[in-house]
Amino acid sequence: MSEERRKKITLPYLFKKVEKGEPISWLTCYDYPTAYLQEQAGVEMILVGDSLGMTMLGYDSTLPVTMDDMIRHSAAVRRGAPTAFVIGDMPYMTYQASTEDAIRNAGRFMAEAGCDAIKLEGGAAMAPRIRGIVEAGIPAIGHLGLTPQSVSSLGGFRLQGKSAALAKQIVDDAKALEEAGAFAILLELVPDRLCQVITERAENCIIMSLGSGPHAHGQLLIYHDMFGLYPKFKPRMAKVFGNAGEVILNGLKQYVSEVKDTTFPAKENYFGMKDDEYDELKKLLD
Ligand code: KIV
Repeated sequence: MSEERRKKITLPYLFKKVEKGEPISWLTCYDYPTAYLQEQAGVEMILVGDSLGMTMLGYDSTLPVTMDDMIRHSAAVRRGAPTAFVIGDMPYMTYQASTEDAIRNAGRFMAEAGCDAIKLEGGAAMAPRIRGIVEAGIPAIGHLGLTPQSVSSLGGFRLQGKSAALAKQIVDDAKALEEAGAFAILLELVPDRLCQVITERAENCIIMSLGSGPHAHGQLLIYHDMFGLYPKFKPRMAKVFGNAGEVILNGLKQYVSEVKDTTFPAKENYFGMKDDEYDELKKLLD
């Protein structure tokens, strides 16, 4: 594995990529060793998503995740990926109630975890939160389409903006977030043509796609979906790039079996003691 350090990924770097028409790579990540690997692989943006409530903590939704959970995981990711552009995902009810809450909690991601930006869910109604955070000097990303914190009111994990009227609402929401100062917007699970329309209309905003097709400025995937690491389900849009879950499970089964039949530990897995020291020890014990 190369130990060569790349330069820190910055906002001007990301906008330069958009200008050159080069797609941006973005993945979720929640821990130090995975962040280390993503950094080595050249992943440019990392989202410490509140999806960690499901993928790492085993909850059925993202709603129970707290700011303290997010700060601990974000700080670990930052330690593993010093040059990636790391985004902290604001958990449920840490920004919805007031702009003051939003600014304070966004500030924690920056001060306590060393994040580069924050992300929050919601359309025009959340524009004042984005504006407040950006005016406090914190780069902010909006999130439209399937927004997991509102999954109950959206009727489940399903494609959003299918009809012209609902698609128009998402186009308007995207404009409101851009005008409020969001430097990027994530479109999750909307039709590819809607994503294309929003990308073409964006003036000073990076549009990223999660399951919304190839016409955005870059792509996001959930790391656990890419590698078969989330046991409960795999969304249709996620591509599996390797079945790490299966590799780990096979290794675990082999471990259990080797402990049982005493092939583990072998000579190379432990340390011996010199005869004279051993004899002395026995004397001491006698
Ligand atoms: O929490 C998360 O990982 C997210 C993605 C679903 C985009 O917000």
